[in-house]
Amino acid sequence: MKPIVDILEERVVSVIAEVTGEVAPGVVKPTQDAKFGDYQANGIMGLAKKLKQNSRQLAQQIVDKLDVSDMCAEPEIAGPGFINFRLKPEWLGFRLTEAIKDKERLGIDPLDNPPTTVIDFSGPNIAKQMHVGHLRSTVIGDVIARILEFWYGDAKKIIRQNHIGDWGLQMGMVIFSMHTKKWREENNITLDNLEHVYRHANELAKNNPGIAENFKQSTVNLQSGDEKETGYWKKACEVSLNACMEIYQQLGVKLTLEDVRGESFYADKLPSVISDLSVAKMLSESDGAQCVFMDGFKTKDGEPLPLIVQKSDGAYLYATTDLAAIRFRVNELRADRIIYVTDARQKLHFEMVFSCVRKAGWAGENVTLEHVPFGSVLGNDGRPFKTRSGENIKLRDLLDEAHQRARKIVEEKNPDLPADQKESIAQAVGIGAVKYADLSNNLVSDYIFDWDRMLAFDGNTAPYVQYSYARVDGIFKKGNIDLDNLIQGDFHIELNDPKELSLAKLLLRYGEVVETVARDLRPHLLTNYLFDLAQAYSGFFETCPVLKSPEPVKTYRLLLCYQTARVVEHGLGLLGIQAIEQM
Ligand code: ARG
Repeated sequence: MKPIVDILEERVVSVIAEVTGEVAPGVVKPTQDAKFGDYQANGIMGLAKKLKQNSRQLAQQIVDKLDVSDMCAEPEIAGPGFINFRLKPEWLGFRLTEAIKDKERLGIDPLDNPPTTVIDFSGPNIAKQMHVGHLRSTVIGDVIARILEFWYGDAKKIIRQNHIGDWGLQMGMVIFSMHTKKWREENNITLDNLEHVYRHANELAKNNPGIAENFKQSTVNLQSGDEKETGYWKKACEVSLNACMEIYQQLGVKLTLEDVRGESFYADKLPSVISDLSVAKMLSESDGAQCVFMDGFKTKDGEPLPLIVQKSDGAYLYATTDLAAIRFRVNELRADRIIYVTDARQKLHFEMVFSCVRKAGWAGENVTLEHVPFGSVLGNDGRPFKTRSGENIKLRDLLDEAHQRARKIVEEKNPDLPADQKESIAQAVGIGAVKYADLSNNLVSDYIFDWDRMLAFDGNTAPYVQYSYARVDGIFKKGNIDLDNLIQGDFHIELNDPKELSLAKLLLRYGEVVETVARDLRPHLLTNYLFDLAQAYSGFFETCPVLKSPEPVKTYRLLLCYQTARVVEHGLGLLGIQAIEQM
């Protein structure tokens, strides 16, 4: 089904053309306030200005010709020339019936010809624990992938790429130590130990140039394929990746080992990046380093800012790998669209990399390159979220704590549930709360990590939305309702009560919201929507008896409940959050 907003937009646009001969947008949007109806066309004022006409008169001419009588009451003109639309209850009932019958896609059409899309997210580094910074990339990237997968209607068009940091000097530092007999005798190869080695090596290198040489040598050995070094490197990668996979599983994130294509994968493609840039006459030497200068990038002092692609000692950089990765993604993975989900501090890096591949012609106009930057996670004091001793908070510990805290809440609310059920509810609520809190903020803003707020059962939180699902399920259980039977029948919903109508309108906006979120990559619009829906359901539930109503109202209301549960479950699913039947 075409979203309501698009149907209205199309009709307004065609009447604008008829009346004025102009191709101009109607700018139809849902209204903020129900007193202006359900949707509003805002485009007339701008058009009138352009045509030097009176905007109210123009709005009147358009309304006179506009036929929306199948779906709306007579449109009204408001203010300087807004056109307000109020949907007819019969039509809403009809649309809702259609949406309910489409069990697969809830009445939402897939996009025509979706682009093959690479989503680069998570990207943890080997020999380091994932920390709360990686939480955001992982959670946001997973949600973007899920939403696009649904919107595209074709999972093959989505390619998840986990660009892990598994190459370069950092690896040399780790494997140099793993090499020493003493270390191996005293340590098992665990992630904790690897991380310790890495930190220690960093410390050593600071005041000991000799050892820094050793690290470099180890790196060179690894990069030239030395068997021993490669063996240690593989082991370190395996141990680190296994730890990541455990976290992905705990988080319910759809990333597997098959999605890993780390920096090392591009190692043999870096020399040709340099030589091709050289052939294209894009390289210049600056202080012995190979650089690319592009228009529009300046240092603070107004000097041209270089993208360094090779250091004077021949070493390649993070950017070089990203250049190679784009070439691979465009040429081999056949990507039409590449999306990077990293923190906002990498904004300039991606701007420069994108500009460089455009200039080199490695990504043509038909390829879209997007960076989705996000802000930092802050503690209650408004400073970066760290442990009391100032260390990065390990993701593993954070997720365990989420589970424990949720477990305590479940224990208080529902002490009589069987233990394993309490466990699974605690998992869904705890992890759901952490993810929801992360997603419900505008991506680019920093947000404060606040356990009490995210686990609250009221407000814009996962538990509140999850609870609305459990509540509907409770009705079905209480009434002993056979859902298959309920929706199989030949029904046509009728809506009368204002609360039924507001709930139905919101339910029917779901497709619009999914489309907007998918187009703009702004997950918080989906959490906002689910929160509104949960509230509308609450309003409906308080004033409209369901099981006690006479037929056919009982069936209509049950169907409203049913669709609410479906949309909540589906929406949470796009956010990678579990809906639960009991809380
Ligand atoms: N490993 C990087 C980090 O921890 C993230 C990688 C992002 N992806 C990319 N293609 N650069 O910040």
